[in-house]
Amino acid sequence: MIPNILITGATGLLGTTLVPHLKKYGYSVVTHARTSGADLLVDLTNRDSTFEMLTHVQPNIIINLVGLTNVEVCQQQPNAAYLANTWTVENLAHWIMKTGAACHLVQISTDHVYDGIGLHTEDQVTLTNNYAFSKYAGELAALLVPSTILRTNFVGRSKTQNRESLTDWVYTSLTSGKHVQVFKDVFFSPLSMTTLAEMIQLVIERTPVGIFNLGSHNGMTKAEFAFAFAKCLGMRSDTMTPIQSSQATFLKAYRPKNMRMACSKFEKIIGVRLPLLKDEIERVAREYHDEVT
Ligand SMILES: NC(=O)c1ccc[n+]([C@@H]2O[C@H](COP(=O)([O-])OP(=O)(O)OC[C@H]3O[C@@H](n4cnc5c(N)ncnc54)[C@H](OP(=O)(O)O)[C@@H]3O)[C@@H](O)[C@H]2O)c1
Repeated sequence: MIPNILITGATGLLGTTLVPHLKKYGYSVVTHARTSGADLLVDLTNRDSTFEMLTHVQPNIIINLVGLTNVEVCQQQPNAAYLANTWTVENLAHWIMKTGAACHLVQISTDHVYDGIGLHTEDQVTLTNNYAFSKYAGELAALLVPSTILRTNFVGRSKTQNRESLTDWVYTSLTSGKHVQVFKDVFFSPLSMTTLAEMIQLVIERTPVGIFNLGSHNGMTKAEFAFAFAKCLGMRSDTMTPIQSSQATFLKAYRPKNMRMACSKFEKIIGVRLPLLKDEIERVAREYHDEVT
């Protein structure tokens, strides 16, 4: 059976890489967003409109990318965080439960639900700010129905004007000479969006049920990452200053210091070996290089 795939939040950072990837491989994809640029425009915080859309589309797979990812806004406006990151997922899950639709939900969650000494396995959740809390509550909503919850983080060249990735931000600093500070005490293990799209393709083929970490091997600090990225690009990196995150007084919300994930559960169930972060940096650097040459 050819799956009827609905991608909610398709116009954001990840969606604009994922949608063309799946279309390239022949999947039938219906795209959704709230404001513009998608097949269907619906505010998923509105339950009636969400149910109407789902009844119209009758998806057998929903890949949910809707979210409020701005950690500072989530901290200042907990209700906005709850609505975007939790209530929207509840609406999707409740439609599946209420209608009994044969529909698998793929919920994109975050490595932000971890902190403390890593590598973290899926049961080692530590919630330190409203973004993490609201995303974790979204996971609980997704677990009400057959679902794959992917805890992840990603980098790579943004394909939308509206959103900038971490590597876009570093690249702009390197090319414009703008001075930026990079954290030498925050560890992570992201994937490139291209690799993540490939992994999500495997997930929709196999629909494993449960919570899975999905990141790279041999994570590093954000400062190490930024300098390694500059090196791969062959660019001078003296616009970047490594600092402790506590020195970044402009950040009001606490940021986890160690989000590195152990991903063997995902590797085992899908039958893949996830890449090293250093190889992902090279992959991402090629995206920027391809753009300028
Ligand atoms: N960015 C990261 O580095 C990162 C890291 C780890 C996990 N994640 C997770 O990955 C997922 C995708 O992130 P992203 O960076 O691609 O997000 P993004 O760029 O902020 O895009 C969010 C998408 O959700 C839509 N949306 C937001 N609120 C909505 C609502 N109430 N109703 C309907 N649509 C709504 C937006 O549409 P409009 O623009 O039309 O409002 C947009 O298409 C999120 O769940 C995020 O938590 C992100």
